[in-house]
Amino acid sequence: MSRRSPDFHPVLRAVHWLMAAMVLAMLFIGVGMVSTTGPLYPALLALHRPLGISILLLVLIRLPLRLATGAPALPADLPRMQKLAAKASHVLLYASMVTLPLVGWGMLSAGGYPVQLTKALILPPILPHDLRLYAVLRAMHTVVALLFFALILAHLAAALAHGLIRRDGVLRSMTAGHPASRP
Ligand code: HEM
Ligand code: HEM
Repeated sequence: MSRRSPDFHPVLRAVHWLMAAMVLAMLFIGVGMVSTTGPLYPALLALHRPLGISILLLVLIRLPLRLATGAPALPADLPRMQKLAAKASHVLLYASMVTLPLVGWGMLSAGGYPVQLTKALILPPILPHDLRLYAVLRAMHTVVALLFFALILAHLAAALAHGLIRRDGVLRSMTAGHPASRP
């Protein structure tokens, strides 16, 4: 759905930046976690699980709001291929934000590990205990995380090209908004 305002809904903008910080933190926590066998490992893993599940919850709130409020139209002079690339990459970003936490939750379930969020809160398994399935999902978690990282870098480059080179208001639509459309 196209939106009349040149900016994303203010709640969507706030959630975009909150989730961007959470996702970036998760990628670095994940890489840090698998690069250490030291005492930091359990602390990083204890942070990784609840933060990942929070991303899943937030994206489940964000998606319906996005579908209900729509997105501002992209600049009319943007080449058709770039418009298509923007839309496809956004779909893939949303898909990664749903898939990666589900794969994380599923892989721990299949491995027979508890998905502990806090001392008192342990999520139920979503898959049966199966070590072969665990191995597949463990590899999938790595591959999807790396693809997500690459996609975010391309997204960052595109956002900066809009903001610094084209100066066409696309970056502003996700930050402070256009002055005339501020409430
Ligand atoms: C957006 C959400 C998530 C992101 C960006 C993310 C990212 C990562 C990254 C980059 C790694 C290290 C790379 C590798 O797999 O070798 C990793 C490992 C891991 N992640 Fe996630 N993850 C997410 C969600 C989750 C969730 C929800 C869980 C579990 C509930 C989880 C559990 C794990 C585990 C157990 C490891 C491997 C630890 C190890 O083998 O030592 N992840 N994650
Ligand atoms: C790090 C993780 C990030 C994720 C997962 C992410 C995800 C997304 C998604 C899914 C959208 C589509 C919005 C929609 O249609 O509902 C979007 C739009 C946007 N993002 Fe990000 N983003 C991230 C980081 C960033 C950063 C660092 C910047 C800026 C430097 C940025 C700038 C933008 C802009 C300008 C838009 C609007 C683009 C348009 O309308 O075509 N994002 N982002």
